[in-house]
Amino acid sequence: TPRVFSGIQPSGGLTLGNYLGALKRFAEMQGDGFETIYCLVDLHAITVWQEPEKLRHQTREAAAAFMASGVDPSRSILFNQSQVSAHSELAWVFNCVARMGWMGRMTQWKDKTAGKNAENASLGLFAYPSLMAADILVYHATHVPVGEDQKQHLELTRDIAAKFNHDYGTDFFPITEPVIEGTATRVMSLRDGSKKMSKSDPSDMSRINLTDDADTIAQKIRKARTDPEVLPDTPDGLAERPEARNLVNIFAALSGSSVEEVLADYAGQGFGAFKPALAELAVEKLAPISGEMTRLMSDPAEIDRILGDGADKAEAIAQPILDKTLEITGMIRSR
Ligand code: TYM
Repeated sequence: TPRVFSGIQPSGGLTLGNYLGALKRFAEMQGDGFETIYCLVDLHAITVWQEPEKLRHQTREAAAAFMASGVDPSRSILFNQSQVSAHSELAWVFNCVARMGWMGRMTQWKDKTAGKNAENASLGLFAYPSLMAADILVYHATHVPVGEDQKQHLELTRDIAAKFNHDYGTDFFPITEPVIEGTATRVMSLRDGSKKMSKSDPSDMSRINLTDDADTIAQKIRKARTDPEVLPDTPDGLAERPEARNLVNIFAALSGSSVEEVLADYAGQGFGAFKPALAELAVEKLAPISGEMTRLMSDPAEIDRILGDGADKAEAIAQPILDKTLEITGMIRSR
């Protein structure tokens, strides 16, 4: 069976962007002829400083968000990255396969160091995509569901797999397929249609957090930036209207319909009519998730147990693949 792997950084609260671009898709791919492995990438999170107790809390909260979004630990493997040491070990091998120039060309690296002194960024932040490639390839995963912003990292994953195979004269690592599908692969900020919705944006009004209550969700949508025009008949009419397009995309993704279908219902209407409908839909879909997260978070020991159990299952797949990799690279394996 084809194997799905994906991960989310527990470096802050999760947003509507993470939900529509990733979590919702993770839940949908379960049982769809795929073996599904989902990971809280805590080692990636510490590429920028994290307060230790906050990181532990955020990791549990992200695990709760996965489960509240429909990821079922009896059908998927759900765990945190640092409990399976094979990720870090394979990342070292990939650090020796990947080239400095490849890392330097990553737009995420460039954005995160833009206007700052890159000399002061952690070495881990630079090498980040190599660990990401290891996350995926240590399971020989073939399908990786992600939002649009991870596309370049997945291309790099393919390059690393191909170079390893070439350098060692093998076809050991598969060439992974990115799965970037749906109407919400890039959810934008509610305050600025040219920026993606992000857990690290300083303005809380720019995003919907999965922990927001119904009133907060409705208020953020009411205050979202828009334009004075009415909604057009066809998606083309949204091309030069990033804020309007974003809200229509969110509506489509939350309601499980296409952009065309949403426009068929709302063409000719202004945001005075559209926003309340979107707010109602968002509350209907998201409030139960935050409710379920609160319930799950009342038993942190149970969350830790689930992650430990997932890590055991993950390790059973990853360790033999790591062992074989080290053998291919010429390491003595005598115990
Ligand atoms: P991260 O933690 O930034 O985001 C997790 C997932 O959410 C998606 N996403 C979005 N989708 C649509 N609109 C948005 N505004 C939005 N913001 C985030 C991301 O595309 C991603 O799918 N490097 C990864 C984590 C990672 C990973 C992996 C992913 C580590 N190892 C292996 C896949 C496979 C990251 O920082 O995602």
